[in-house]
Amino acid sequence: MPITPTKKIWMDGELVNWEDATVHVLTHSLHYGSGAFEGIRAYPTPKGVAIFRLREHIERLFRSCKILMIDVPFNVDDVVEACREVVRANELNDGCYIRPLVYLGYGEMGLNPLPCSVNVSVAAWPWGTYLGDDGVNNGVNTKVSSWQRHDPNAVPTAAKSTGAYVNSSLAKVEALKGGYDEAILLAPDGKISECTGENLFIVHKGMIFSPMHSDQGSLEGITGETIETIARDLGIEVRYEALIRSDLYLADEAFLTGTAAEVVPIRSVDDRLVGDGTPGPITKQVQSIYFSAVRGGEDRYQHWLDYV
Ligand SMILES: Cc1ncc(COP(=O)(O)O)c(C=O)c1O
Repeated sequence: MPITPTKKIWMDGELVNWEDATVHVLTHSLHYGSGAFEGIRAYPTPKGVAIFRLREHIERLFRSCKILMIDVPFNVDDVVEACREVVRANELNDGCYIRPLVYLGYGEMGLNPLPCSVNVSVAAWPWGTYLGDDGVNNGVNTKVSSWQRHDPNAVPTAAKSTGAYVNSSLAKVEALKGGYDEAILLAPDGKISECTGENLFIVHKGMIFSPMHSDQGSLEGITGETIETIARDLGIEVRYEALIRSDLYLADEAFLTGTAAEVVPIRSVDDRLVGDGTPGPITKQVQSIYFSAVRGGEDRYQHWLDYV
């Protein structure tokens, strides 16, 4: 989906005009993928626009930078405030997607990143459903990718690093060219890891299973943790366990979670319908509470909302 330009982008402590938020062609991260980023959503609520689980996202950004040995010249509070400022300055009262980025700048070249300047930017723009309204309502068709998730000893999968996403892009293109909506990546051990930008969950005999916190290199997703809380509060058991691809074929229900994608039912895996191919009752229940919570409709989850 094309980006809708807004007015201002936060760059290293100040708001600059959208069209002036540019970098030099010799920016280190452009060459070596040496950056870290976040994806965050804000939603309209009855009390005004609110950013969903903002601090958790910025804390993960700083954890990514720690893994990459990038010393961010701002603290968590500064970047949290920068996100609020960008939403306010662009009057994104109907909600938006927010993209904080830490990157190594212009000035040094070569594979030693340590002497490089560290730059931080935060942009925001209106963004509709990532996998389409039909996907959210009726489910998406997925395919196990021929591309494998990184071995964490090759590229650390716990860091949301810019360079790591070459892997997701390869898998995404392969899936789209094959007529599918999304790819499922396997870990080097052959177990299920996650999708290109989402965590994966299945429902089996009334329980929810996910490899999210197992050793298969999936990102610790904030949407996934949100669904875990919602499900447990409904009395549904959630287990983090390694899964194999036939677990997906035989699941009663399956869904994926991510900030951009939100909560999306999986209609099929490798041309096999999940259940009867329509979103299952547990998927629909947690999805509907999620959409209500992000828009301020659930009293018990108000603490997830950061009003700008
Ligand atoms: C590879 C990958 N896995 C999972 C997720 C889901 O994470 P979250 O729910 O925190 O957006 C994302 C999105 O950030 C991602 O890029």
